[in-house]
Amino acid sequence: MTATIHIVDDDADHLSALCDLVSAAGHEVTGFGDARQALDATGPPPDLVITDLRMPGMDGIAFLKAVKAQAPGLPVILLTGHGDVGHAVDAMRAGAEDFLEKPYDGAHLLAVIRRTLGAEAARSELARLQGVLAERSDSRILGTSRAMRAFRDRISALAPVDIDIDIDVVITGETGTGKELAARALHRESPRADAPFVALNCAALPEAMAETILFGHVAGALPHDPEGRAGKLEAAHGGTLMLDEVETMPPAIQAKLLRILQERIVERIGETRPRPLDIRVVATTKTPLSRLEGFRPDLYFRLAGSELVTPTLREAGEDIPLIFAHYAQLAARRYGRPDPEVPWRVQQALKRLAWPGNVRELKAAAEAYALGLFEIEPSAPRASVPQSLAQRVADFEAREIAAVLDAHRGNTQRAADTLGLPRRTLNDKMRRYGLSSDG
Ligand SMILES: Nc1ncnc2c1ncn2[C@@H]1O[C@H](COP(=O)(O)OP(=O)(O)OP(=O)(O)O)[C@@H](O)[C@H]1O
Ligand SMILES: [Mg+2]
Repeated sequence: MTATIHIVDDDADHLSALCDLVSAAGHEVTGFGDARQALDATGPPPDLVITDLRMPGMDGIAFLKAVKAQAPGLPVILLTGHGDVGHAVDAMRAGAEDFLEKPYDGAHLLAVIRRTLGAEAARSELARLQGVLAERSDSRILGTSRAMRAFRDRISALAPVDIDIDIDVVITGETGTGKELAARALHRESPRADAPFVALNCAALPEAMAETILFGHVAGALPHDPEGRAGKLEAAHGGTLMLDEVETMPPAIQAKLLRILQERIVERIGETRPRPLDIRVVATTKTPLSRLEGFRPDLYFRLAGSELVTPTLREAGEDIPLIFAHYAQLAARRYGRPDPEVPWRVQQALKRLAWPGNVRELKAAAEAYALGLFEIEPSAPRASVPQSLAQRVADFEAREIAAVLDAHRGNTQRAADTLGLPRRTLNDKMRRYGLSSDG
């Protein structure tokens, strides 16, 4: 594989010989006579750095530390003079990938380069895959229930429409139902996707600091931060600003925000020149804003260009097994465990539980399940009082049917075949025993 490699050595002859050797192996090589120069180098970052240890000015160890501070994942190989083993130990501690004692064999150096690059490539591929997995898993709104499908459709319909007119969005929903997930999806599916998504938690906003955080300030305006800083509004320019838990916003800030949203300009504190502001605001709230005393109706109308309500698990109950299995699998992979089985009867039991914390709670349970820490009692508690024969037969029948459905993952036709029953009879019995098939 070809790589971009930086080589640092104060000995010009050695440097040029080394550069020749490494570029002859097909790599893109840049040589530096001085460590500072290498640190200040512009252009794309290298895949690997090779540096001499003893150099005037910044030596190899200091250089190594500086490189690792800038780019912790960038591998560094050190070249040490004869008898510098003590330093080599320091170098390994400071994060060097390898070191070679001079004089070294050219073929050996090339082998070390190959090995280092290979290990690095494997590591970054792994990190990339984990990133993709995490991204995909944590950003998708799962579910095939009518409620979830309608919700996703609405997001897809709303996401692209604020190009000419700004349509802000209010997302209302119970705790853990995916309000933030929806806000991010609105951003991702919009033409603003390449611009920033900025999240601001209004509940965590100290009233005294709210203005500076939202609007920013110019240099010299605030004694404790003399440099000046952009506020959250400005940071979201071109993109989306999520006002999380907007129902907690203090009235004074509501008034200021209203003005800004009407005029679409922002002034940093201490500044009189307004800056244009192109943002979409997505506000989330647990309490419907229209019913909230203390929330300015004019701000509510301004924000609620469109409204979305996140479905609860009560409405999307049939999605419980799917979401559970998804997060259980994800957690298992993260911990290097085999994909967990979620038997049909466990799925049914999950559906019967109340999930007051909604998907967040379900997700936490799934993660615990993947680690073997979540136990679920699948059968309803049985009465210990003596039962009639008919009741015991019925119990037995219900258990048998549940077991067969389980074996066929809820497929009623196959279960009916196995039980030797017409499908309609099975459906009747399932209804009577409160068993459902949509595992
Ligand atoms: N439909 C869904 N599919 C998959 N994951 C979901 C879904 N809804 C929510 N989640 C997951 O549940 C967790 C909680 O979601 P999120 O933080 O968006 O909820 P929230 O409504 O903002 O909660 P809170 O009210 O506590 O702020 C997140 O990990 C999110 O990825
Ligand atoms: Mg939230």
